[in-house]
Amino acid sequence: MPCFDPKAFIDDAFKYIRSILVPDSRILAACSGGIDSTVSAVLVSKALGKPIEAVYIDDGLRRIGEAEDTVKLLRSIGLKPFIYDARNEVVSGLRGIVDPEEKRKTFRELFYNILGRIAKENNVRYVVQGTIAADIVETVKGVKTQHNVLEQLGIDVSVKYGFNVIEPLRSLYKWQVRMVAQELELPIEIIERKPFPGPGLAVRVIGEVTWDKLEILRKATKIVEEETVDVNAFQSFAVLLDSKATGIKNESRIYGYIIAVRIVSSSDALTARFVEVPYNKLRRISERITSEIPEVTRVLYDITDKPPATIEFE
Ligand code: XMP
Repeated sequence: MPCFDPKAFIDDAFKYIRSILVPDSRILAACSGGIDSTVSAVLVSKALGKPIEAVYIDDGLRRIGEAEDTVKLLRSIGLKPFIYDARNEVVSGLRGIVDPEEKRKTFRELFYNILGRIAKENNVRYVVQGTIAADIVETVKGVKTQHNVLEQLGIDVSVKYGFNVIEPLRSLYKWQVRMVAQELELPIEIIERKPFPGPGLAVRVIGEVTWDKLEILRKATKIVEEETVDVNAFQSFAVLLDSKATGIKNESRIYGYIIAVRIVSSSDALTARFVEVPYNKLRRISERITSEIPEVTRVLYDITDKPPATIEFE
């Protein structure tokens, strides 16, 4: 692994932040509860020597209990979090969209519009985001549109959405962000947090996103996460496919949903390998999903590395 000095990085980040902001600057952090946005917010807060406000946008695409858990966590590390409820706006804004890139671009547009509105309502000029190098590389290469990459595509966010973006981690990869989190003495829960995509479950519901599908996927996600806490993986998650399969439940035929389970190891998210999880664990995941979620009749395990597959399905 190339060498990286998190302490030197933090010093440089403080200089960069102080070159743009003063303690009185009207500023807000967009926090998802993931390691990237949390570390970015903490860096800005420490550079300015004061707690800063952090908005958690609840877009309806998050996991069970995520909003409440995130707010608690952000508060515990000295930020001033609040929830902005955009659930109906985002889920209805994605209605009818099946193409993955159109879905990502629509989500990005919804996300920036909402952020712009929050910034305006709170009289904020600067918004801190947790964009990291992998997000930029993949978006600029055209592999996949990340929800938080716009300026790097030549779009002036301040003109279009009315706020300036501060991205202290834009040159780092995930493993480096983890070292910075450690250096900042953030809780282990944050340091070891598994990545979760910005567009959330929208990119894990294949095809059209609906409330019903989101609810099914939320339950499957919880089961996969619970059953893989002891697996050494970069990410482990469930995906709801857009085709169906015949099954038998309560002695009757049903035509139900298919869940794919993806468990991968990776260091930089640019390449990944599927994890050779023991069959008994896969069997337990499958049994739990099919017995606890009435609408699901089949569970598949994804045995594809990245490349050729990406980590997420969309
Ligand atoms: P892919 O699917 O491109 O994912 O192999 C690489 C890593 O990025 C995460 N991911 C995202 N993160 N906004 C994010 O902040 C996004 O739009 C997004 N899409 C994918 C993914 O979970 C994996 O860790």
